[in-house]
Amino acid sequence: MQAKIDDLICTPATYADSALYHRIFNSLRRDDPVHWVEPQDYRPFWLITKLEDIREVERQNDIFLNAGRPTLRSRTEEEKIRAVTGGKPDVFETILHMDGMDHRAHRAVAQSWFMPANLKKLEGAIAQVAREFVDRLERQGGTADFCEVVAARYPLRIIMTIFGVPPEDEDQMLYYSKMITAPTDDDVETTEPRNELRIRAAQGLFDYFRKLLADRRANPRDDLSSVIANAEVDGKPISELAALSYCVTIATAGHDTTSMTSSGGLLALVQHPEQMARLRADRSLMPGAIDEILRFVSPVKHMMREAKVDAIVRGKQIRAGDSLMLCFPSGNRDEDVFDNPHEFRIDRSPNRQIAFGSGVHSCLGLHLAKMEIRALYAELLDRVDRFELDGTPGFYKGFVVQGLKHLPIRYSMSKVTA
Ligand code: HEM
Repeated sequence: MQAKIDDLICTPATYADSALYHRIFNSLRRDDPVHWVEPQDYRPFWLITKLEDIREVERQNDIFLNAGRPTLRSRTEEEKIRAVTGGKPDVFETILHMDGMDHRAHRAVAQSWFMPANLKKLEGAIAQVAREFVDRLERQGGTADFCEVVAARYPLRIIMTIFGVPPEDEDQMLYYSKMITAPTDDDVETTEPRNELRIRAAQGLFDYFRKLLADRRANPRDDLSSVIANAEVDGKPISELAALSYCVTIATAGHDTTSMTSSGGLLALVQHPEQMARLRADRSLMPGAIDEILRFVSPVKHMMREAKVDAIVRGKQIRAGDSLMLCFPSGNRDEDVFDNPHEFRIDRSPNRQIAFGSGVHSCLGLHLAKMEIRALYAELLDRVDRFELDGTPGFYKGFVVQGLKHLPIRYSMSKVTA
C-alpha cells in the first residue's frame, strides 16, 4: 500500500481525480502527516501535508532552500536538464530558484510593481479585458467550453497587457506555457519525448523574451518588461539569464494558475447554486468568496524545498540534503485549521488559505490574481443570469499547476451589450 501511495503521489493522473487526491491526503494528514515517499523513477522526498507544517518549513527559509529542487521531476528529466545546463537543476534561474540575499534582491526588482498601489492603474484595463471575454461568451449564444472561450486566455491577455506585447502573440505564448506547466497531459500534442518538452518550450520563450527585452532597453516604456529589462541588482545590470527567467516565471506562473482558479471557482459555484445565489445577491461577499475559491481549487499542487542542515518537522528527523514537498491543496483541507474543510462556503471566516504559499517566496502576483478574478466574476454575475453544467468537466493531468481544461456550460444572458 505504501508503495502504491508513493507512486500515486508522482502520477499526474492522480491530480485530475480530486476524489482520489483527497482520499490519499485525508489519510496521510490523519496517519502520517510528514510522510517519506519512495516512488519509482523519482528521488525520494518528504511529503508535508498539514498547513502549519507547510508554513513552518516556509518560515525557516535559511534551512529549507529552494535552489536544489524547486519542483518534482523524474530522475530522467533531472538528468536531461543537468546535461543541457552543465549540471544545474533547471534551465531557468528564476526567483523561485533563488535563496537568501540573492532572492531578496531579485524579487525586489518587480515587487513594488505588483503592489496594490501600482496595480490600481490597471483596474480599468483589467475590467475592459473582462468585458471583452464575457462578450466572447455572449457571442457563443448560450453554450460554451468556459475554459476554451474565457479562462484559458483571459489571464494570458492580462499578462500580455502588463508586458506591453500585442494580442497576436497570444497563441505562441499559450502553446509554450502549456508545455511548461502541463507537459505530462495527453492534450499537449508532441512527437518528442515528454520530458524534453519543457526544455524546448524554455528555448522558445527565451527567444521571444530576448527580443522583447532588447527592445525595451533601447526604447523603455511604462510596462513590466521595461522594468525587468533595465533592472539593477546589487548596483549592476540584472543578468540576461535572470531577466529572461523573470519574464518566463511571470508569463507561466501568472497564467495557468489564474486561469484554473477562474474556471475551478465557476465550477464550484455552479455545483453549489445556493452559494452562487448569495454572491449574486450580496457582492460584499466577493473578497471572502475569492479566498474560498482559492482554498478549494488550490491550483498549485506543490513546491519543493531542500534541507541545508538536519532538522525536525513534526517529530520526524529530516537529514541535510533531503527534499520536502509542500502540498498546498492538502494544507487547504486541513481539519485542524478549517471546519468541515471539504465544504465550499463563500463566507468562511477566518479563512487562512495557503493557495499562494507563504513566507519570503509567497506569490508575487497574488494581488494581481485577485484583481483579475474579481473583475471577471463581477462581469459574469452582472451579465449572465443562469449557469448550468452542460457535460462532464475535464481536468489536466499534472502535479505542479493543475486544474480544469474543459468546463462545458449552458447559460443565459440578460443584458445585450452594444
Ligand atoms: C490564482 C493565481 C495564483 C496562484 C494560486 C499562485 C500561487 C503561487 C504559489 C503557490 C507560489 C509559490 C509560493 C511558495 O513557494 O511559497 C507562487 C509564486 C510566484 N507567483 Fe504566483 N500564483 C498565482 C498567480 C500569479 C500571478 C498572476 C503572477 C504574476 C503575474 C504570479 C507570479 C508568481 C511569482 C513571480 C512567484 C515566485 C515568488 C518567489 O519565489 O519569490 N503568480 N505563486
